[in-house]
Amino acid sequence: MGLIAAETINELNSRLDAVAVVGDYVKLEKKSGRWWGRCPFHNEKTPSFTVDPERKTYYCFGCHEGGGVVNFVMEMDKLSFPEAVEILAKRFGVSVIRENTDGIINTSEIEKKKENLSVLYNRVAGSFSYILMETQEGAAALRYVRSRGFTDELIQRFRLGYAPQETFWLHKFLLGKGYSESFLAESGLFTKANPRKAFFSDRLIFPISGRQGQITAFGGRILNGDGPKYINSAESLIYKKRETLFAIDLAMAEIRNTKEVIVAEGYMDVMALHEAGIRNAVAPLGTAFTAEQARLLGRWAGRIKLLFDSDAAGRAAAAKAILTCRSVSIPAFVVAPESSADLKDPADILKEKGAGYLQQFVKKCILDFEYLLSENKRSLNNSDSNGKARAVSSLFPFLDLVDSEVERETYIRRIAEAFETGIQPVLNDYKVWHDGGSTTTPKNTEAIVQRSIRMNDELYLLNAVAVNCGANSSLFAKLRSAIPIEGFTDHNAKELYITLEECSRAGSMNFEAILNGIEDGALRQFVAENAATKAFSEKPEFIVADSIRRVQEERLTRKQNELVLRMRAAKSDGLSVDDLIHEKMFIDAELQNLKGVNK
Ligand code: UTP
Ligand code: MN
Repeated sequence: MGLIAAETINELNSRLDAVAVVGDYVKLEKKSGRWWGRCPFHNEKTPSFTVDPERKTYYCFGCHEGGGVVNFVMEMDKLSFPEAVEILAKRFGVSVIRENTDGIINTSEIEKKKENLSVLYNRVAGSFSYILMETQEGAAALRYVRSRGFTDELIQRFRLGYAPQETFWLHKFLLGKGYSESFLAESGLFTKANPRKAFFSDRLIFPISGRQGQITAFGGRILNGDGPKYINSAESLIYKKRETLFAIDLAMAEIRNTKEVIVAEGYMDVMALHEAGIRNAVAPLGTAFTAEQARLLGRWAGRIKLLFDSDAAGRAAAAKAILTCRSVSIPAFVVAPESSADLKDPADILKEKGAGYLQQFVKKCILDFEYLLSENKRSLNNSDSNGKARAVSSLFPFLDLVDSEVERETYIRRIAEAFETGIQPVLNDYKVWHDGGSTTTPKNTEAIVQRSIRMNDELYLLNAVAVNCGANSSLFAKLRSAIPIEGFTDHNAKELYITLEECSRAGSMNFEAILNGIEDGALRQFVAENAATKAFSEKPEFIVADSIRRVQEERLTRKQNELVLRMRAAKSDGLSVDDLIHEKMFIDAELQNLKGVNK
């Protein structure tokens, strides 16, 4: 039998319906995106127990009980962890994978296939890129991308490629490399109708990568003839469209640095922004911007800037993206052109006006609410009072997603002002709309603003270890030998470190035990949420090693700066700085070393 594998728990977390499970025990009612009920853990008259269907967690504002859904079922039915997982897995159609007791995971067929697919995509990307950059066959495509204003340096950074017109070449080529017919047939690189015929033919290829730069899919732009402008790989074991952002691998460093991200509409927009030196730009993949994508970005960025086309479709997409961001508690900004004479999209701007102009262009942005307000006012016909009511009410979904009562109140004032009506009528209409006619709301509980924890490198490292150390107990050992607890500055990271230390000592290195060991409710939810998003469970060894290096780098840089300050102080006091110089040399060397490993 053995322990339940972390991937099973993650899969279960991603599939289970928290409201359905908890709803079997507690009567729940929906208010403002959350579900409320009377807490089963303590006696109460007014509901302060909530279920967050996105995070798949429960929390009671009254008694502060909280945790994941598995935990909830354990508590309610007095079950052990594996028993609760078995029951829920059955209910949500997840197959339970167990590890051998000696700790080695039975690498399932699925894991092997994922690995093979990943190798295949990276190899094919290499071939496509070679054909584009180096061969006669790709010459016209290369001329085309260059004509859009992109340098070869950028084209190579994005690993663009060209898929040859000849549709049977790729299959022969890969068979020659030893791939089996059956594996290739399922790879997503060939058409369903004919498993030897390449899916992409005579198209400019945009590789789509995961966070770490591993290619997981392709987009292909048409160059000649008819057909859809872009076609994109189908979803696969390694590619989930909703969770993927184009160029996230290239943008991550800058997103971290600036704590800001620009979300554009498509491949060419992102390339144009990067070409202009705006490197924190990403795009969804031909679908609307999703909550998963927003949440992922929100871990690193305090500000999401939306840069969508200024045509009707682009404006509608922006309005929708605003709500998506707010639904995960992130206020967005919209890059809004001052005059409608401005060009349609970033690629046009780059080409016609140059990089400097584009840089200035993206600076002009307005807050999500102001954007919606001006959009709604624009569509309003003044003489029509019904139109006014409709324009006002189309802002209600936004109001509903605002976390703070105070903030909501400010917006209501602004609406009243903008539409030249009183605050009370707006409030009344909103209340009717919000309650769907009824006037009962749970007492003030919504007003409790949940403390939000912002991700940073230290916390990311600890989360990666916490989420995965059930499956791989050596992760914590690696962390501990690399960085002592004093090496961390973030208090949440420290708390997690301590919890891990305790679990490790108690011999209970599993996710549920860790979750239960976290004292702080907000931190517990934060970790539970990260476990549920799956981003941490892909290549955990790699993520942990990479994050350790980052945190070490930050720590050494901090020390370096401290030493420089101390040296300055010593000098002005007329003291010797020899020791300090010596110490700094060591740190410089260590830092150099770390950066070298990175290359
Ligand atoms: P756009 O039509 O704005 O394309 O679609 P673009 O990226 O600006 O490319 P150029 O400048 O016309 O060459 C925006 C995004 O929508 C998706 C793609 O991801 C594209 O980048 N899309 C568009 C598709 O998936 N399929 C299509 O047929 C069109
Ligand atoms: Mn375009």
